[in-house]
Amino acid sequence: MSAKPFKVLITHPEVPQSGIDLLEACELVRVESLPPKRSELLQKIRGVDGILWAGHEALNAEALDAAGPQLKSISTMSAGIDYVDLDEVKRRKIPLGHTPMVLDNAVADLAVGLLIAAGRRFHEGRKKIETDKWENYHLNWMLGQDVRDSVVGFYGFGGIGQAIAKRLSGFDIDQVLYTTRRRIDRETEKELNAKKVDFDELLAKSDFVVIAAPLTAATQGVFNATAFNKMKNTAVLINIARGKIVNQNDLYDALKSNRIFAAGLDVVDPEPLPPNNKLLTLDNIVILPHIGSATNRTRSDMATIAAHNVLRGLAGERMLSPAY
Ligand code: DGY
Repeated sequence: MSAKPFKVLITHPEVPQSGIDLLEACELVRVESLPPKRSELLQKIRGVDGILWAGHEALNAEALDAAGPQLKSISTMSAGIDYVDLDEVKRRKIPLGHTPMVLDNAVADLAVGLLIAAGRRFHEGRKKIETDKWENYHLNWMLGQDVRDSVVGFYGFGGIGQAIAKRLSGFDIDQVLYTTRRRIDRETEKELNAKKVDFDELLAKSDFVVIAAPLTAATQGVFNATAFNKMKNTAVLINIARGKIVNQNDLYDALKSNRIFAAGLDVVDPEPLPPNNKLLTLDNIVILPHIGSATNRTRSDMATIAAHNVLRGLAGERMLSPAY
């Protein structure tokens, strides 16, 4: 018998060492295949007490059944938990943690980059060079959207949205609008010059619309043709949340017809996006391969928080960042 009291599964071979080190008091079982094979995961999950669930494999009844009833603690290594069947986890009363907050700054930095890149036509500019169409003899060539004095509207205004707004205050924007279920505290509203509005007002008044909400049944597909038709035709849409919040066919039409000015996406549907996807044919879109939290420090912090969550769940304590 192992002298270590708990057996913990690490579902991905590339979890940063900072997280692994914290789990040294546990017997570790690790998925070694890359990309991680579900069959290996389902085999190694049997009989474990805790799981550090890294990667976006479905965490569902199949996996929980395979683990067995002794399972006491799980933490994802992500902020978003849309790949988790939360009802199944709750039904079994298994504590679940995730890793919000530690990635707010990295994602916010990337969002500001996307907002400027899309608003100022970086992708199209690069293509002009490659196709020998550098026509700067025009005085009004490649004009884009100003960030200064703009209204920035947030669909979802948690830690990431607020970190973006904080950064943008340095760009002298005029106002922040936000649409959320609950109003945020008055002090933060004041600090960020932010006002809660309904969705239609957000769409109508914003020069930049930033999607920073979790993917849920209520947010899926909300950015569709109806929404795009309510936006300014100079508006820029940014999505750093989840691809499925946007109806991509409708987005394609809105961009192709210049119904809106541009989009900057770090998330798409599906991921990976096939190289022949029609969005990639557009000039007025900047697309990144879901790299919002991809910095060394952030990944290491995510692993650390996830490991602490697992340990706390095993000890019967409240997790650092419980998901429910
Ligand atoms: C998250 O943590 O949800 C990021 O989108 C990376 O998956």
